[in-house]
Amino acid sequence: MTGRLIFTLLLALPACLSAPPASAADGDPAAGKAIFERTCENCHAAVIGVNKVGPSLWNVAGRKPATVPDFAYSDAMKANKEPWTAAALDTYLADPRGDIHGVRMFFKGLPNPADRANVIAFLQTLK
Ligand code: HEC
Repeated sequence: MTGRLIFTLLLALPACLSAPPASAADGDPAAGKAIFERTCENCHAAVIGVNKVGPSLWNVAGRKPATVPDFAYSDAMKANKEPWTAAALDTYLADPRGDIHGVRMFFKGLPNPADRANVIAFLQTLK
């Protein structure tokens, strides 16, 4: 009995150890699109020039924050000078209201790193 349990654990262990950490580089844009439609699209359009509760996210990857014309950003977001690299997006989306104090994005964030990697991969296709 114990032997069988240990055997099972030994089988399961390598699978856990070899799971690579998720990063935007290996995100899946198609899966990200589905997450975007479910969790971001109420507030954000993926096309240029359409602002909703949040600014258009067209071409957001790599650009400076708070630069979409005709969108009233919070002062906290205007003060954020760090470009939206994959790493910056990852930190922001994990906890939007904790990352940049006082932002107006009333969204609890995406706790799952794989979800963030997929959404970021999708955002990178919006060009
Ligand atoms: C409840 C509405 C809401 C939801 C849901 C939401 N956002 Fe936002 N988002 C906002 C608002 C409002 C801002 C502007 C924040 C500010 O000015 O402080 C914003 C800002 C942003 C910015 C910065 C844009 C810029 O022009 O600098 C990014 C990137 C972003 N959101 C990504 C996302 C992603 C990706 C999701 C889904 C995973 C998401 N948001 C979900 C409302 C939302």
